[in-house]
Amino acid sequence: MALRTLISEERIQTRIREIAAQIDTDYPEGTLYLVCILKGACFFLADLARAVRRDTYLDFMSISSYGKEKTSSGEVKIIKDLDISLEGADVLIVEDIIDTGITLNYLTALLKTRRPKSVRVAALLDKTSRRVRPVDAAYVGFEIPDEFVVGYGLDFAEKYRNLREVCVLEPE
Ligand code: IMP
Ligand code: MG
Repeated sequence: MALRTLISEERIQTRIREIAAQIDTDYPEGTLYLVCILKGACFFLADLARAVRRDTYLDFMSISSYGKEKTSSGEVKIIKDLDISLEGADVLIVEDIIDTGITLNYLTALLKTRRPKSVRVAALLDKTSRRVRPVDAAYVGFEIPDEFVVGYGLDFAEKYRNLREVCVLEPE
């Protein structure tokens, strides 16, 4: 398999600073609860959290990756839940990529049941053409075509997460 750079490290970092500035103007005073969806969003969370200029709480959630057939039910299994309460909180879910939308459609609804003040989504990447469930993402880094991408947290069988850019994985 060969890697073709789709989004360079510089473009990722520039876009994250833009999103962070937008977040700083959008939210009222107070602590922003950043909820990172493991493992793919770990670098996005790390860079975004340090780019915003406000108080944040960080927490992590791990969910199962069912086979694609099984996801059609829209069920997502929580492997590790949050440690902190979201009651009264401004919550921003930080995710690597929106593909079918099943994961974020489910998680947004789930976190809204925990009585937060607000719930929004920040996703680094968005494959809009693949959507089967609606996701209203307030912050999107890049819309990308329907190609399998790795790097900057995204993996193929756990590999390539530590690449500094987002690459398309393609046959030689
Ligand atoms: P969704 O529920 O179909 O939106 O799936 C989102 C999840 O699928 C992401 O959090 C990723 O873990 C995974 N995923 C979707 N597309 C890709 C890709 O191109 N590369 C790596 N992982 C992907
Ligand atoms: Mg993921």
